[in-house]
Amino acid sequence: MPELGICYGMQLTAYLLGGTVEKAAQREYGRITVTMDDKTSLLSGMSDASSCWLSHTYQVKKCPAGFHPIAHSTNCPVAAMANDDKRIYGVQFHPEVTHSDEGRAVIENFLNICGCVGDWSMETYAQTAIANIREIVGDKGTVLLGLSGGVDSSVAAALIYKAIGDRLTCVYVDHGFMRKGETEQVVNVFTHTFPVRLVASDASKIFYEDLKGVSDPETKRKIIGRDFLKVFKAESEKLGKLDYFAQGTIYPDVIESGQATGAAVIKSHHNVGGLPKELGFTQLIEPLRMLFKDEVRALGETLGLPHDLVWRQPFPGPGLAIRVIGDLTPEKVEIVRESDAVLREEIAKAGLDADIHQYFTVLTGIRSVGVMGDERTYDYTVAIRAVTTDDFMTADWARIPYDVVRTISARIVNEVPHVNRVVLDVTTKPPASIEWE
Ligand code: XMP
Repeated sequence: MPELGICYGMQLTAYLLGGTVEKAAQREYGRITVTMDDKTSLLSGMSDASSCWLSHTYQVKKCPAGFHPIAHSTNCPVAAMANDDKRIYGVQFHPEVTHSDEGRAVIENFLNICGCVGDWSMETYAQTAIANIREIVGDKGTVLLGLSGGVDSSVAAALIYKAIGDRLTCVYVDHGFMRKGETEQVVNVFTHTFPVRLVASDASKIFYEDLKGVSDPETKRKIIGRDFLKVFKAESEKLGKLDYFAQGTIYPDVIESGQATGAAVIKSHHNVGGLPKELGFTQLIEPLRMLFKDEVRALGETLGLPHDLVWRQPFPGPGLAIRVIGDLTPEKVEIVRESDAVLREEIAKAGLDADIHQYFTVLTGIRSVGVMGDERTYDYTVAIRAVTTDDFMTADWARIPYDVVRTISARIVNEVPHVNRVVLDVTTKPPASIEWE
């Protein structure tokens, strides 16, 4: 089997096969120019010298028998090595990161060495996935899926619909804390473009009732989670027995739950954790299990889901409820919904929506004095929160151009009743979290 060791992987390969690994006289970190000495196999088609990302203190001093160096840098005599007979390779640099200018060529060459032909496309993936679902569910089987309105469950629904049509039933629980226009879009798409059997339950009254006077963030989350399960369960029980429960589990969920090579995993989602078991399902379908988020989005586009649904930014399960600080009323949620819609519109207009990874407004708990016309006001303060992040574990505040901030602020105070002040959150995570609650 061909092997490619990267960084420490190359050192380990060298060590295990009888080469030597030693501490380098000078550690290398960052972008380094690497000279490609042998471009017959792994480094085929690359420039003679290429800017690569390195991060190492140790390095291969002597290649194992059967190997020879194929690249070097000023401080690293073996920046890559090869044993073409055994098809074992190593690179000290990181071809997998974008900072290595020609890293992709290394990966492509290795895949060619492995005999891969590169004919994978999202269209063929979709066809295979649809055929698999048909095979599992059979000619008569029925499937239940919880639609959250997010990307993953929407793509899963579209895919399963293509496989089994309206033998798919989707339950969408509207807790009343969705963004402006979202519920309407979900209902429209899954009524017209993908006409599944759709149960869209407007449960906002139940949620508002149970959340009355509750201001503690964690208690709010717990009540919302509990009510969600209650409503979902009640709606699905009305449907009678269906055969399979479908979930939009994606590969990072599989990795996070530590079961990458294991059997079916029940995703512990914020909203539907434990739901299949509670509803008595033993058979799960997870058609996105092998896909990363960008692949899920590409699949969604291939299937014909609307672009703005497929590219939706992450949205917390409890929705706008955790973007109103303190206790909730429909009026307060409306302020966040409307101001969030203005923000989204202006960010899109400025062409910033792909650069800022999450952005929303928060109804802070503060009211302050203002003047409107010749009247004194005592009204709410809305905060703009916008962040850039790779993994949502850490984040920086997004540098929205001031002119765009000015337009957003002016529109919010003019168009959203009961707001007389707009502030910009300029805090990183940590110490702040992305959401305010
Ligand atoms: P924080 O606020 O912890 O957010 O920095 C990190 C990411 O997680 C999202 N988030 C949630 N998602 N249920 C969810 O499904 C929740 O209760 C929840 N709280 C935060 C948040 O929007 C951000 O993308």
